[in-house]
Amino acid sequence: MSKYITTPIYYVNGEAHIGHAYTTFIADTMARYERLKGEDTFFLTGTDEHGQKIEESAVKAGKQTQKFADEISAKFKNLWNEFGVSYNKFIRTTDETHMKGVQKAFEVMVAKGDIYKDFYEGHYCVSCETFFPETQLVDGEFCPDCGRATSVVKEESYFFKLSKYEDRLLKHYETNPEFIMPKSRASEAVNFVKSGLRDLSITRTSFSWGVKIPKSIGDDKHVMYVWLDALLNYVTALGYGTDEAQMDYWPAGVHFVGKDILRFHAIYWPAFLMSLDLPLPKHIGAHGWWTRDGEKMSKSKGNVVSPKEVADAYGVENLRYFMLREVPFGQDGDFSQRALIDRINSELSNDLGNLLNRIIGMSGKYSDFMIDSKDVEKYHTKELIKMNKVLDSLDIFMENLQTHRYLEELWKLFAIGNGVIQEYEPWVKMKNNQEDEALATVGLVANILARAAVMLHPVMPETTKIIANALSFEINQESYQELVVDKKLLKLFNIKKVPPLFPRIEEPLMAEALKGETNPPKEEKKEEDTDNLIEIGQFFETSLKIGTVLEAEEVPKSKKLLKLQVDLGEERSRQIVAGIKEFYSTKDLINTQVCVVANLKPAKLMGMMSEGMLLAAKDEDGLCLIRPQKPKKAGTPIG
Ligand code: MSP
Repeated sequence: MSKYITTPIYYVNGEAHIGHAYTTFIADTMARYERLKGEDTFFLTGTDEHGQKIEESAVKAGKQTQKFADEISAKFKNLWNEFGVSYNKFIRTTDETHMKGVQKAFEVMVAKGDIYKDFYEGHYCVSCETFFPETQLVDGEFCPDCGRATSVVKEESYFFKLSKYEDRLLKHYETNPEFIMPKSRASEAVNFVKSGLRDLSITRTSFSWGVKIPKSIGDDKHVMYVWLDALLNYVTALGYGTDEAQMDYWPAGVHFVGKDILRFHAIYWPAFLMSLDLPLPKHIGAHGWWTRDGEKMSKSKGNVVSPKEVADAYGVENLRYFMLREVPFGQDGDFSQRALIDRINSELSNDLGNLLNRIIGMSGKYSDFMIDSKDVEKYHTKELIKMNKVLDSLDIFMENLQTHRYLEELWKLFAIGNGVIQEYEPWVKMKNNQEDEALATVGLVANILARAAVMLHPVMPETTKIIANALSFEINQESYQELVVDKKLLKLFNIKKVPPLFPRIEEPLMAEALKGETNPPKEEKKEEDTDNLIEIGQFFETSLKIGTVLEAEEVPKSKKLLKLQVDLGEERSRQIVAGIKEFYSTKDLINTQVCVVANLKPAKLMGMMSEGMLLAAKDEDGLCLIRPQKPKKAGTPIG
């Protein structure tokens, strides 16, 4: 079965912003995901170039309309190319084949008896390219969708019999509960239809920048309503009305749209298709809006985020990851540089990047960069089961367009990988002549990384190629089948060193865009990479000793400090000032034993010399001292 995935076609009245990039990233991810699974996939994007809005924008820019459209359309195309968007076709509504297809559709609708001529009198919002009856206007004048002033339109027009399709539409929603995704958005369309559909004015005569209605109608002054023209792009791109060879891809698997244009896709478009006797798309995926500091982005507010600027500063794939991970599909999301940096540092750099670095480092140290998976199943059945469970859970999230849940779940693989290293401590096993076990753990983690890279590929195509290259395999349909479906282990890895994939970002890189970002940086997890692993000798540079507390007293005026005299088996006791007063009283300490860092440089705390430090562990329940399980002679070394 072939899959057909589309973005909306973007108006050419301005350059791409972060909202356009979001739709394009989701659609691209979905297309790549389907291709990885071996589906014959066609991914369409493009530009919407007709209508009053574009004509007026061109006039404002002092340019001839086609030239203006050419320039902005090229900017969209170039940006998607630069971002590596894997579209199969970039359609323009000014393409000759598209215009022919639209005229053909008009003729079919006429033949079906669905188009009639009348007179339109009402209000029109040029920005939304939408007609509104007076009853829907705000204060009798303003657009209920965008709030801009509407203009009065009184002109001859052809109408599409939308009302005729009311019942069929309602039936379709009812029998296809997943037609609109997420389901929570469906009621909007259902209620709109239930409140009664008026026939739709589908031609205009007061301007000329549009597809002319077919010559056969003999009414030259009419151009097509821009939404009829635009929606038809989804079939004209496959050759509808011209060369229909690619119409096999129809019906679309999913049309991705923003919530503001759901009505056009969930009501008008299916009605047009019913009129054309074409099957309906399987899903309309309506996503939420990206805001900036909680506010709608607009040129006048100067808060529009340019995807190019963000990608230049942080990398396009990091941006893709962020956008797809940050917001549940269908909900609004707020763009902040701080949130982006947090995800890069904690999820990409710490969880994924460091795991890869550790495997590269360990394979280099233990086995000359060769990893053999021969003992993985012997020592790690439990972890393999866990890993496979995660892999099996992923598909459904993509099917439901829940990219944030998909990524959240996928990240469990890195948690398993980091967890096994912590638990099995391969470096200890290497020292204890348990080389097979140590290498099995490294092999397990290499396999975890390989599978995770395959599944992350649709979201971060280039980055995962680098990971796959470091692990000496390729991401493609075959490796998807082997590693993810058949759950085979990669037998041998010939590891290659790669520079860190996600260097930590300490400071925001786009000063301008940070204006107004007030949320403070979150506390970061401490980095744990191979560079932070120490040799055993380094550990012994710290002198840890058992100490007996001889005396303890409170430090006046300090909420936190106690002053202790501790016997470390030396000639004289040591004075140690410790921040434990909130958790221990002096009598809890006298004549008890503690663990002491004995070779710290002395330091002054509230004017008192402190000659050592006590070992303690602190979590949300408070602090506790680390003490020997049985009494030991004061001064006994620990290690
Ligand atoms: N040309 C029409 C679509 C025709 S499809 C047959 C159009 N173009 S648009 O350029 O105005 O918008 C394109 C898409 O961008 C829409 O899906 C819209 O929802 C989306 N976004 C515009 N601003 C957005 C945000 N701030 N956030 C997320 N997406 C938003 O509508």
